[in-house]
Amino acid sequence: MTHTPAANAPIPTTEPPALEVRNLFKFFGRRAGEAVSRLRAGATRDELAGLGTAAVIDADFDVRRGEIFVVMGLSGSGKSTLIRTLNGLLEPTSGTITVAGERISGISPKRLRDVRRRRISMVFQHFALLPHRTVLDNAAYALEVQGVPLAERTERARTVLERVGLAGWEDKLPDELSGGMKQRVGLARALAADTDILLMDEAFSALDPLIRREMQEQLIELQQELGKTIVFITHDLNEAMFLGDRIAVMRDGRIVQLGTAEEILTDPADDYVAQFVQDVDRARVLTASNVVEQARAVMSASAGPRAALRIMRDLQTSVVYVVGGGRRLLGVVRDRDVLKLVRNGVTTLDSAIGDDHPVVGPDELLSDLLGTSVESDLPIAVVDDQQRLLGVVPRVTLLAALGNVSTDTGGQPVIELPHTTIPMDVFTETLHSTADGDAESSAGHEASVTVPATGAAELDEADATSERSHA
Ligand SMILES: Nc1ncnc2c1ncn2[C@@H]1O[C@H](COP(=O)(O)OP(=O)(O)OP(=O)(O)O)[C@@H](O)[C@H]1O
Ligand SMILES: [Mg+2]
Repeated sequence: MTHTPAANAPIPTTEPPALEVRNLFKFFGRRAGEAVSRLRAGATRDELAGLGTAAVIDADFDVRRGEIFVVMGLSGSGKSTLIRTLNGLLEPTSGTITVAGERISGISPKRLRDVRRRRISMVFQHFALLPHRTVLDNAAYALEVQGVPLAERTERARTVLERVGLAGWEDKLPDELSGGMKQRVGLARALAADTDILLMDEAFSALDPLIRREMQEQLIELQQELGKTIVFITHDLNEAMFLGDRIAVMRDGRIVQLGTAEEILTDPADDYVAQFVQDVDRARVLTASNVVEQARAVMSASAGPRAALRIMRDLQTSVVYVVGGGRRLLGVVRDRDVLKLVRNGVTTLDSAIGDDHPVVGPDELLSDLLGTSVESDLPIAVVDDQQRLLGVVPRVTLLAALGNVSTDTGGQPVIELPHTTIPMDVFTETLHSTADGDAESSAGHEASVTVPATGAAELDEADATSERSHA
């Protein structure tokens, strides 16, 4: 049997993951083998303190091709040790590491160097630039070590320097650059090597906050453009959440949770993780897709004005979302306009469909939704890249998500749309007085409803108001 993968599902591939880490232990100290046996049997880091430090305990995960995999944890939790084993700078005490299908644990130093050169580059926290070399020579350094001819390495270094925004700075010395620019050189040097995998250990931690955010944004751009696999270490939670496709949270040498930012935020594995994430800036982590609710007042355009009116009456809303084929969002219709259509015997909705409703994509950050939300009385419609309606984000949901408050209403749907101000009787009467033998008129139980004078008056008043506001 075949199936069609979702639009954004990874293309099925037989290629191995970028990195495979299996039962990895790193113990610094005496009798390391014995220490690992005891860790396997359940000993804690503290119990082995007499022998040394269990820096990484039973790490087991894959890093997928093209993802930004963040390792996060407090100081001393084992992040740097883990990343150093990934590129073979440290030999595991036990366990294996495989890079793009090639095992790098237990191989000869020469083969290891070869795999590293072809597969892995590293960006360091303190830039590690050569002070007496120009920006260009620093960027070309890895290529020089590889013996790439001068003309070619100069060309490649120029290209990556331009890519990281340093065109024109090629002949400067590192001392002439700001911190952010130095790290751009560090990044350019890693990119020039053209490896699939970038390892970044606290690479942005020495930068001040504005520059740091700029670098984070650029890294995401680069990643999307170049498709690199990035392992990024940080102890900054907001950075982890902003960058990470997935995040591994380390505590005392163990990975205590591995998941997306949303999973970690909304379902922390234990109290340690929960405490860790309580201060996170949710507005910059959660996206529309994390808080979207099912839209209830939705109809197909082909169902026509009477169907719209019935939905408004049944849900007591003043607005209904109208979708076309494939659930593509066409717009919204409002109660007054629909009433007019029905009264005038118009059978298509087209002329009443408006587009004055807020719409966002599923990846929009909640911080960007706030402004949108206050500009409209309607919830924010969430559509995919083919304009298909995924659902809505009512303002209460948005505010609750930002405040980390549950919106679980015990099965009661959240009231998502403005309440209609037109009396129910007016809807019902209009449907009956214009009935043409459809289901509504044969329903029977409402057949005797008469027009309440106040309702009609209010409707006229409403019409007059809307007329005035159009004038
Ligand atoms: N070469 C070493 N020899 C002995 N102990 C080490 C060595 N490297 C790291 N450690 C110890 O292993 C533990 C994990 O250190 P690691 O540097 O991996 O932590 P980290 O999470 O990167 O911390 P930070 O956020 O401070 O960089 C620490 O207790 C550290 O002292
Ligand atoms: Mg470290």
